[in-house]
Amino acid sequence: MLLPSPWRQFFPGMQAFTEQQQVWLDSAATAQKPQVMLDALCQYYQNGVANVHRAQHAPGERATRAFEDARRCVAHWLQAGTEDQVIFTKGSTEGINLLSHALAHHLQAGDEILISAYEHHANLLPWQQLAQRQGLQLTVLPINDDGHLDIEYAIHQLSPRTRLLAISTLSNVIGHQQALEPLLTAARDMGIWTVIDGAQSAVHQRPNLQQLPCDFFVCSAHKLYGPDGVGILFARKQAAQALRHWQFGGEMVRHCDYQHAEFLPAPLGFEPGTPSTANIIAFAATLVWLQSLDSSAIAAHEAALHAQLLSGLQARGMQIIGAPNCALVSFNAPGVHHADLALLLGEQGVAVRAGHHCAMPLMQHLGLSGALRVSLAMYNDGTDIQRLFSALDQALEILQ
Ligand SMILES: Cc1ncc(COP(=O)(O)O)c(C=O)c1O
Repeated sequence: MLLPSPWRQFFPGMQAFTEQQQVWLDSAATAQKPQVMLDALCQYYQNGVANVHRAQHAPGERATRAFEDARRCVAHWLQAGTEDQVIFTKGSTEGINLLSHALAHHLQAGDEILISAYEHHANLLPWQQLAQRQGLQLTVLPINDDGHLDIEYAIHQLSPRTRLLAISTLSNVIGHQQALEPLLTAARDMGIWTVIDGAQSAVHQRPNLQQLPCDFFVCSAHKLYGPDGVGILFARKQAAQALRHWQFGGEMVRHCDYQHAEFLPAPLGFEPGTPSTANIIAFAATLVWLQSLDSSAIAAHEAALHAQLLSGLQARGMQIIGAPNCALVSFNAPGVHHADLALLLGEQGVAVRAGHHCAMPLMQHLGLSGALRVSLAMYNDGTDIQRLFSALDQALEILQ
């Protein structure tokens, strides 16, 4: 077999797909789950459940301990230092929405927010709406023909009016790991809040948040082989103190009467209500398992698959979007609508994504109505890519 994946066996979903003759090449949307994650989930429920942080009984204590252990695991995996900088959310989208409310009081009419031209709607719309509410300027950093940011140019765009920079390390359309450190350092030196959208990058490159000079970082468990409905908002200690509470409810107050309330600091002050306890515990188990794997072997495997994918698409005359170097390739077939091609691939059991990829402004900028996207994970192998190519050849024969 071409480029076999030694990790595929750990993912029951991939085995089910093999039996269904289904190829999964849409992991940038969501990743399949390893057996350890499923076991941790079952084990938590089978042992008897309890709410966290509010009960004196033994099951409550056990759940709280497991929940806070999970926070420690996440902090360790993020190389984030102390675990009180980890806030659990529902996903990257919620993390960025939280920030767009919790930082709003630091921004005044005329202040500027900077984002890049390749942002996912999750890292555009919360800032766009904040800008509209408060009369702020939303400035978009341009990308070059390769779909990359010019970091020197971006640094020159920082001005005393710039109050916040929100940017992703890996675009879900371009598939290029952008080295942001110099930009983040320049922003930090000017007292600008920095928000990193790590939704796509975290699974391909383990974050090191002690080194990355950002104030905030978000990612989603479901793209990291973990369960749905869990996200992480890392808020660096100093920056977390500047956040204003945004959602209100149980287990986030220090004291409250009918007219007033005093809230807990992060993380608990930003986790009101019952959290997704089982999923958070199962996510931590997934991260512990991920850490036990050889990350450089996974990176090398994904890079080899990516090279095979890119060269096969180029050889077939596909129009590649930008110059991708990681995890995914977006493309169009000349003269063929992306939706037609995706339909024919889907009919042949090949799951890829087609459309605007929640990046409509980027598509408009590129002059495209949409594109196909093939995305990879550790469990894909060379046979998946070959199946894609033969399905593509068949589809193109019909459509071109
Ligand atoms: C770059 C990027 N940011 C943010 C998100 C939003 O993630 P979620 O839907 O898990 O909140 C996505 C999802 O695809 C993404 O690709």
